[in-house]
Amino acid sequence: MDVRKSLANVDDIPDGGAIAVRVDSSTGGFDLILVRAGETVAAFHNECPHAGRRLDWAPGKFLIDNGTLICAAHGAVFGLQSGHCHGGPCRGASLRSVPVEVIDGQVCLP
Ligand code: FES
Repeated sequence: MDVRKSLANVDDIPDGGAIAVRVDSSTGGFDLILVRAGETVAAFHNECPHAGRRLDWAPGKFLIDNGTLICAAHGAVFGLQSGHCHGGPCRGASLRSVPVEVIDGQVCLP
């Protein structure tokens, strides 16, 4: 029996967009950004490498523009799928990625 916990249904993530999910754990948990391109999903910690702030402007609401994710705090611009910062105060840094798998339409931690 597979005991992996689903983080979200792929269809809950807008294609070309992102949602926020909370992962509970015995050490307090963490917040992730799930981004989707077709059936491909990538995950990043919802923590900007510039000043450690969340990237969403309201819980789960992200600034997405032309394949980029823009940090709502100070405007750093990240590749939506790569998490690499192309512009702004942390140019050259990257969001911390987290491996995820899509199994039967569910996004799961491996
Ligand atoms: S915290 Fe994201 S750009 Fe400053």
